[in-house]
Amino acid sequence: MMRVLVACEYSGTVRDAFIRAGHDALSCDLLPTDSPGPHYQGDVRDILADGWDLMIAHPPCTHLAVSGARWFKDKQVEQAEALDFVRMLLDAPIPRIALENPVSIISSRIRKPDQIIQPYEHGHEATKTTCLWLKGLPHLVPTALVGKGARHVTKSGKSLPEWYNLPPSPDRWKIRSATFPGIATAMASQWGALA
Ligand SMILES: C[S@@+](CC[C@H](N)C(=O)[O-])C[C@H]1O[C@@H](n2cnc3c(N)ncnc32)[C@H](O)[C@@H]1O
Repeated sequence: MMRVLVACEYSGTVRDAFIRAGHDALSCDLLPTDSPGPHYQGDVRDILADGWDLMIAHPPCTHLAVSGARWFKDKQVEQAEALDFVRMLLDAPIPRIALENPVSIISSRIRKPDQIIQPYEHGHEATKTTCLWLKGLPHLVPTALVGKGARHVTKSGKSLPEWYNLPPSPDRWKIRSATFPGIATAMASQWGALA
């Protein structure tokens, strides 16, 4: 059994996958958890040194994602802070760490990701290019290869995955940023099995 910290997770998806696999897992977010379960609502920095075996971290990508590049010149302070937060998580005193983010300036400003994964490698007919920065962990092995899913062309001619195409709403960012359950299950079964 591992002690697993799931940092920056309000959905409980990765936390619950580890709990189902028999581990002692806690999610942590500034927000309350959306699904009841072990959760620390507060700053992850408060609990980083509490003796974890593994941390899966989902830091905010708002100021880092390359998809927002056209706003970069207006937000250099926010960007520097977001990069410091990522560095702090990658340097946490935890032997095994996976940090997840979309295609982002972490690659150019800190280091290249160790792996790029997709939901369609884990049973979901969807694309969401997800980079993983790994410490003490092997690459995640695809568990169920399926089709890449439909795409949608916006009025301005941009091609987006169909699942990403949602009308504006207060919860849209949550739906877009939630981890796909097939990826959470793969993390728990493969990384939770390490001695
Ligand atoms: C992109 S979302 C991650 C969503 C995640 N994939 C999920 O399924 O819940 C990033 C989260 O980081 C949280 N966050 C930002 N700073 C934090 C901090 N210092 N400590 C804990 N959580 C933080 C935010 O509240 C936000 O919910």
